[in-house]
Amino acid sequence: MRWGRCHKGRQARTIPDHLGTSSNFLSPSLLSPAHMSATSSLLTVSPDRARRIFDDIEEQFRLDRDALIKITEQFLTDFRLGLSEYNQAMAMIPTFVTGVPNGTETGTFLALDLGGTNLRVCEVQLLGNHQFHLRQQKYKVSEALKTGEASALFDYLADSVDAFLTEIGSESPTMPPTSDPFTSSPSLLDMTQQPSIPLGLTFSFPVEQTALDQGKILTWTKGFSAKNAVGHDVVQLLQDAFNRKHLHVRCVALVNDTVGALLSRAYSAGGCILGSIFGTGTNGAYLERVENIKKLGDSPARQKGGFMVVNTEWGGFNNSRTVLPTTSFDNKLDRESINPRLQAFEKFISGMYLGEITRNVLLSLIDAAPRPLLFNGKSSDDLNRHYGLDTAVMSEIEEAWEVGREDPLSGHSDAPKVNGVRPDWQFMHFTDVDKLPHEDVVRLERIRGIITQRMGISASDVSLTDAAIVRWAVSLVAERAAKLSGCAVAAVLVQTERARIGGGFVPDEERIIIGVDGSLIQHYPNFGTKLRDSIRSLVGAEVEQRVDIGLAKDGSGVGGQFAIYLRLDYRS
Ligand code: GLC
Repeated sequence: MRWGRCHKGRQARTIPDHLGTSSNFLSPSLLSPAHMSATSSLLTVSPDRARRIFDDIEEQFRLDRDALIKITEQFLTDFRLGLSEYNQAMAMIPTFVTGVPNGTETGTFLALDLGGTNLRVCEVQLLGNHQFHLRQQKYKVSEALKTGEASALFDYLADSVDAFLTEIGSESPTMPPTSDPFTSSPSLLDMTQQPSIPLGLTFSFPVEQTALDQGKILTWTKGFSAKNAVGHDVVQLLQDAFNRKHLHVRCVALVNDTVGALLSRAYSAGGCILGSIFGTGTNGAYLERVENIKKLGDSPARQKGGFMVVNTEWGGFNNSRTVLPTTSFDNKLDRESINPRLQAFEKFISGMYLGEITRNVLLSLIDAAPRPLLFNGKSSDDLNRHYGLDTAVMSEIEEAWEVGREDPLSGHSDAPKVNGVRPDWQFMHFTDVDKLPHEDVVRLERIRGIITQRMGISASDVSLTDAAIVRWAVSLVAERAAKLSGCAVAAVLVQTERARIGGGFVPDEERIIIGVDGSLIQHYPNFGTKLRDSIRSLVGAEVEQRVDIGLAKDGSGVGGQFAIYLRLDYRS
């Protein structure tokens, strides 16, 4: 934060003496009547004291290159540990997916995708030319289902498939009742008495897979806590629900959404080494040499050699928080979460949590004593509510700030100087709001509108300075998330021998293809650019320039469908 620098040498202008500060005010010429009614809380606080508080927060969120390197190195250590032993925080789950599509595959299959926020049933038709058609229906998963009995949740999944088949229908070929070369789960054999539609399940939670159609749920994440699910085979839980409802659908394959992202990107791009999700949760799956997956021992899969997709479950990285830059705001979030001490990395990064971290920062400023530093010390029902600030609101704020900027990340090179210094626009000069050009004031006005509408703070308590403070807090939280995400991707590049920490390594491949999906990477302004910056700072520009990050279109649907393809061995 540069506010000390810009603060120096300023002339007090219209600040009433009794407010005891010389600079934290808005120029009257820039103010509409609406602003006039909102006075910045900063006006009542000694500048030094306020500066210390803001500097302290900024310091807590700071992540320099050395810290990023340390985190990436720890990632590599944890990768190796997870590949060698079961029951590690970073689970490094062998997926039994040993091939990726090249885009020539064809076929029509049904997939069910249980992610974090939505449940989707879709039918994907692979056209064989890197393209596909998708028909889908989305269903909401209520809090009651997320936290109730697992059987109710799985019944709901089965009902959704039933509704899809009734309303939309399926063109998937059925599996004949007699031949069943597919299932390795004896409990499913009874279903082979009827022709049934094969279904691929994309299940975006940690599952210790033992085959392409078998796997026990290790733990819930992302706010789910359905009872009697952990330790049970997820394919069987679903199949039991289909059976209870006499649906002739057979779950024949299981993939994580990251695996789906990898497969989908491979299908459209002709190859892919990493599928990653930056959405409600975060995770990555990459192609690993089977010989490195030591925990598979002498199993046939290991003996076969080659490559296998490993679902890292990197959301559980560094649960002990030895290298993660934990702030007091993170501690509060973790303590109040339903899974304290777990999914540490995810809690720094993913859409489910960024809004909550920001809420914690804003509350600390509202509650600052002896004088508030934000919104005149007033909060709202939304801000007082656990998870009451949606990450989508952060996204709106950043967007409102970025609109019309020519080169948002370059530091706004044509920006006017403030006190002879070109501002660092990464961090908003909320003490210099009065010096901002008109268009920036307009941007802050927009943010002010978002604060009143989406956070429920009354307009008379939101000054433009408050808007600038909120935008600063939002960007601190999001920037840290993007940088940390870069560590995870860089660690995969190093683990797969395509990069070295510190740079200076040129890989053989011209393109290192990565598939990404999730609301943050798709919609959060500049998240992808900042993630790339982080990768570059860790592994150098030579590698970073070859990294081709692309959207894994409908990864969960295509992934589930391609898993069936592998399971039924349509390749042969
Ligand atoms: C959570 C889940 C993981 C999933 C990720 C993204 O981290 O544990 O399995 O891939 O969210 O949805």
